[in-house]
Amino acid sequence: MTSLRTRACERFGIRFPIVQTGMGWVSGPRLTAATSAAGGLGILAAVTMTFEQLEDAVREVKARTSSPFGVNFRADQPDLARRIDLAVRRGVPLVSFAGAPTRDAIERIHDGGLLCMPTVGARRHAEKMAEWGVDAVMAQGAEGGGHTGVVPTSLLLPQVVEAVGGAIPVLGAGGFHDGRGLVAALAWGADGVAMGTRFLLTQESTVPEGVKRLYLQAAVTDTVVTRSIDGAPQRVIRTPVVDRLESASPVTRLPRALRSALQFRRLTGTPLRELVREGLSMRRSQDLTWSQLVMAANAPMLTKASLVDGRPEVGILPAGQGVGVMAELPTVEALLSRIMAEATEALARLCPGPG
Ligand SMILES: Cc1cc2nc3c(=O)[nH]c(=O)nc-3n(C[C@H](O)[C@H](O)[C@H](O)COP(=O)(O)O)c2cc1C
Repeated sequence: MTSLRTRACERFGIRFPIVQTGMGWVSGPRLTAATSAAGGLGILAAVTMTFEQLEDAVREVKARTSSPFGVNFRADQPDLARRIDLAVRRGVPLVSFAGAPTRDAIERIHDGGLLCMPTVGARRHAEKMAEWGVDAVMAQGAEGGGHTGVVPTSLLLPQVVEAVGGAIPVLGAGGFHDGRGLVAALAWGADGVAMGTRFLLTQESTVPEGVKRLYLQAAVTDTVVTRSIDGAPQRVIRTPVVDRLESASPVTRLPRALRSALQFRRLTGTPLRELVREGLSMRRSQDLTWSQLVMAANAPMLTKASLVDGRPEVGILPAGQGVGVMAELPTVEALLSRIMAEATEALARLCPGPG
């Protein structure tokens, strides 16, 4: 198994080169701690948490395991600096980002002695992030769940590895679910894999059982990439809700989205003035129209409806295409052991020893 110890293991202080990504409403303290305790790197999804929930979640992970873990933020969160300071104070070793962090955020993370790992979906993003001094990148190919790009993992990963020129570890993401995939990622030059959907479908994931069953029933061809949720391409399981969103006219879509967005802000405790400030900065930075902006603010509510409240008839089900090859709900520990055993077996098949 020594050949499966990679730079990612050294840099993150973990046993296996496997990361459980920060998935909004899914990667809570239970899943994150289980992954880290089992030898991978768990990442808390903090974009959908209030500051106080984040504090509690960090405390809970630390109570469950002494192994390293990370937190996932978004660069345009209004209280990002305060959240980074919390991670520093509580000794959370790594901050991951959905998309690109600012130079200021990277500096603040480094000043606090933490590692910074953004997700990239294109070669040029990886080049920019490496130049800005991040410590690792997660390259997510098109087959990945949630917000995703258009380049498939098989092409993106070797491109990103080339782009960063060996300077920092690269984790492959999008479609990974087993040990053969881990070996493929290493063959493309990556230092490990990061998985979302596979971890959503484990015993420790708090997604309601009925909703997990819907995921397990989905075929490889049952996901779709849609812009109708928040304006950015997002891979979800195709359901009647998604069909309705795609065919809805702005006249019916907007008032509903606005109501739901305000409810989300109440739930996450964001004052209205911050909602407006964040909205204006998102509109500028992502070049959104007003209607896209309202939908963007509404998107987290649609995910929460399914993944927390268990109401897929009104919510969305973000998922990677790999969902179609997942058939059971292992414990995180069993999943990691299986992936490592499969990877070892695949390597032995590729490079048989003497005799
Ligand atoms: C339910 C769900 C929620 C997600 N939420 C986030 C998020 O809040 N932040 C983030 O950086 N990525 C998020 N993602 C993307 C994942 O972190 C990860 O990059 C992706 O799932 C990898 O592809 P895979 O699902 O094929 O493993 C989400 C993905 C899913 C499936």
